Amino acid sequence: MKKIMDLIAEELAEAFEKAGYDRKYAKVTLSNRPDLCEYQCNGAMAGAKTYHKAPIMIAEDVVALLQDSRCLSEAGAVKPGFINMKLKEEYVADYLNQMEESSDLGLEKTENPEMIVVDYGGPNVAKPLHVGHLRSAIIGESVKRISRKMGHKVLGDIHLGDWGYQMGLIITELRERKPDLPYFDDAFEGEYPQEAPFTIGELEEIYPTASGRAKEDEAYRENALHATYLLQNGHRGYTAIWNHIMHVSVTDLKKNYANLNVDFDLWKGESDAQAYIPDMIERLKKDGYAHQDQGALVIDVQEETDTKEIPPCMIQKSDGASLYGTTDLATLVQRVEDYRPDRIIYVVDKRQELHFVQVFRAAKKTGIVPEETSLKFLGFGTMNGKDGKPFKTREGGVMRLENLIAEITEEMYRKIDENRTVEEAEAKETAKIVGMAAIKYGDLSNQASKDYVFDVDRFTSFEGNTGPYILYTIVRIKSILNKYQASGHELEGLKVAGATSESEKALMLEVVKYNEVMETAFEELAPHKICAYIYDLANAFNRFYHETRILAEEDEEKQKSYIALLKVTKNVLEACIDVLGFEAPERM
Ligand code: ARG
Repeated sequence: MKKIMDLIAEELAEAFEKAGYDRKYAKVTLSNRPDLCEYQCNGAMAGAKTYHKAPIMIAEDVVALLQDSRCLSEAGAVKPGFINMKLKEEYVADYLNQMEESSDLGLEKTENPEMIVVDYGGPNVAKPLHVGHLRSAIIGESVKRISRKMGHKVLGDIHLGDWGYQMGLIITELRERKPDLPYFDDAFEGEYPQEAPFTIGELEEIYPTASGRAKEDEAYRENALHATYLLQNGHRGYTAIWNHIMHVSVTDLKKNYANLNVDFDLWKGESDAQAYIPDMIERLKKDGYAHQDQGALVIDVQEETDTKEIPPCMIQKSDGASLYGTTDLATLVQRVEDYRPDRIIYVVDKRQELHFVQVFRAAKKTGIVPEETSLKFLGFGTMNGKDGKPFKTREGGVMRLENLIAEITEEMYRKIDENRTVEEAEAKETAKIVGMAAIKYGDLSNQASKDYVFDVDRFTSFEGNTGPYILYTIVRIKSILNKYQASGHELEGLKVAGATSESEKALMLEVVKYNEVMETAFEELAPHKICAYIYDLANAFNRFYHETRILAEEDEEKQKSYIALLKVTKNVLEACIDVLGFEAPERM
């Protein structure tokens, strides 16, 4: 379905043309003055120069031709040259009914589906997930869903940090604790055990212990670096340990991400890029893109227009080891080869921006990525505590994701329990669902690049711009629909007939924006625009609800129209929270 704004613009364009002006001036926007009108056009002001006419005269010419419009009930010219418009109620009602009958609520999907890779999550294997990874997961998941909703082909790739120094640390610590394991016996030629020599709990303790020891003890650090080197060069026993670490860790990660309702199509990692490195480096050297600089191999990425220095992208250290940039470039080789993406979106902490500037430039310059492929860094800000510093536990440690979720769920349960009408088990389940919405909405409602304060009290509140408020609104609608049905009425086949009050019209006008909002959210990769929209929509609904007797309405036809409007409102809200990555319970 065409966007309602485009439908108005089409009609306006006809009027501009008929009046002797160029169609291009018929641009429609939402009204800046909702007290005066619903939509407006400022084209007369833009056309004044071309036509050597006062804008108000142009506006009046156009308005004169809009008097028996299909979609407008009012069109007025206002000084200095605004065209103010209001929509016919029947027209909006008809649009809403068509939304209900169309697939995906009439969303106008892209005409040119792209192949998009979203690189997000980025957890580091064997280290517990912490809140820093939370934002990447939440924002990336939403960007993936929005892109898919708009009709693009999307692959979400978790891009595990599974090849670094942390692996050498774990191997070193394990070796000290259990030197007799066959992995450490170079003479061992048999089959290594199937069972991992640690559980996930042990693994999560081993890593911080090893990391702490390496900081104090130089010899230990050397050992860990050497173990990393051996692993990366195919050491048989270490590779077997690495496989155990991967298996144990990934199983745990899958559980954690499933809890977050985050789902990856690809579970690739830095290790998968290794196979592409030797050939890539060979070619970069041969083609003269990479050169030696103080022993290291680098690609210059400085550009003439830069106002600050952009250091070269390092692809090999003097000892032959590869770096973060090498892995990201080699991953690009693999992605281009396997998926031929039109764009790749990286959802990563904005503090890594320079790294991505270097990698993107190097990739384009060397032809690893074709010129027409878009590489986009979607950098996000830090999640802070109420003290304005990066979020920590009460004890000041790094907050683990599981604990954060548990804390929110508990708080949610406390709130739900205050006036609980359902069984405890259901209340617990509901607390989980609402808690997830509190976390995700709290995050996504901020522009991604901004830092924000994670405020448990505010995020879990049922009032204000929060996830629980949105869910509460959906549940309220569900409850009315259920009661309507329970009193012997059909929910199917109902049509919105028109508006009988100002608040009803206002709600209708919010619902029809869905199409535009989803498109803008995709174009700007901005889930926060969807949050802002559903907050307005929920407010419009609640105002209508408080001013209207819906279930008590005696005029059956009027009531049917109300119910139809409620249904489409609920469907839009649910479609929106789905792309944000959460869902609503049946009741709460
Ligand atoms: N593992 C990295 C980290 O924890 C994030 C990975 C981001 N993605 C990428 N392609 N570099 O900082």
